[in-house]
Amino acid sequence: MIVTTAQLFKIAYGKYAIGAYNINNLEQTVGLFQGNVQSKAPFIIQLSRGARKYTDKRYLEAMIRTSQDVFPEAIFAVHLDHGDEQTCYDCIASGFYSSVMIDASHEPFEKNAEITKRVVDKAHARGVSVEAELGMLGGVEEDIVGNVCLTDPAEAKTFVEMTKCDSLAVAIGTSHGAYKFKAEPGKKFGLHFEVIEAIQKLLPGYPMVMHGSSSVPKDEVDRINKAGGKMQETSGVPEGDFLPAAKLGVCKVNIDTDGRLVWTRVHREFFRDHPEKFDLRDPGKVYIEEYAKMMAHKNQALGSAGQLDDVRAKLGKK
Ligand code: G3H
Ligand code: 13P
Ligand code: ZN
Repeated sequence: MIVTTAQLFKIAYGKYAIGAYNINNLEQTVGLFQGNVQSKAPFIIQLSRGARKYTDKRYLEAMIRTSQDVFPEAIFAVHLDHGDEQTCYDCIASGFYSSVMIDASHEPFEKNAEITKRVVDKAHARGVSVEAELGMLGGVEEDIVGNVCLTDPAEAKTFVEMTKCDSLAVAIGTSHGAYKFKAEPGKKFGLHFEVIEAIQKLLPGYPMVMHGSSSVPKDEVDRINKAGGKMQETSGVPEGDFLPAAKLGVCKVNIDTDGRLVWTRVHREFFRDHPEKFDLRDPGKVYIEEYAKMMAHKNQALGSAGQLDDVRAKLGKK
């Protein structure tokens, strides 16, 4: 069942966070549904502009629609990840998306607010909710290579009041991709909980979103390298930080890179161990299973595992 992102946030706020997972192909879609249904978790499917361009965006929609029939017990929202204004309008008009993200965080405050407000007006008229971003994460955001610039809590309050956006992606020290934290002398390492706390004080009950939340597990990187990969030593967001962040109002936690690492590990190991094989379905099956396991593991850390019956009951009461 597709629900609105706002419905999920209302139920989860202050208790746990909903995993927002990116998909690009069939194997990811099946693994995503299997893992979330098995761990009884509500979830958010994220489609990036890159995913929509990879083949034809209609395949993504068709796979999600089919998954609804295959997994009738699943409760989830469909979200555009890191949209520009035009892509937001396209998704709003399609009638398929629960929510869109307008990412104008690379623009100065006033321009960001102006663009976000235009998208909010169009989205709300069609019952779609809007995630905006204020501050800048490090790493690559689609075409944008940004420097880290933490969200200013007072600005966050003004921005939300000005734009009426439904949730806000906040820059709290994370960045996209596999290479997140670099220990540098005199620099704070890890999540800036004080920023989340300050925003919650100014905007109580308001849902925050944490991007760049992959944990880039060391054993995953080691396995990739042992199977011929050449990844550098790295670290990501500790999974133990998810729940404390959720208690402070982070309702959505975005994870993409960790799923890519699972894909790389599975395929590198598979062809190393079975050099005679060439049927794409053989590693595909392993990947589906491993991606499903990753989902279940993440949901446990987010606190969303086991919440499905409660979510269903609460949605039913409305
Ligand atoms: O934050 C970006 C997401 O990981 C999506 O990445 O643009 O390569 O699909 P992508
Ligand atoms: P990661 O690169 O840490 O998985 O972040 C994904 C993300 O923020 C998608 O919007
Ligand atoms: Zn992101």
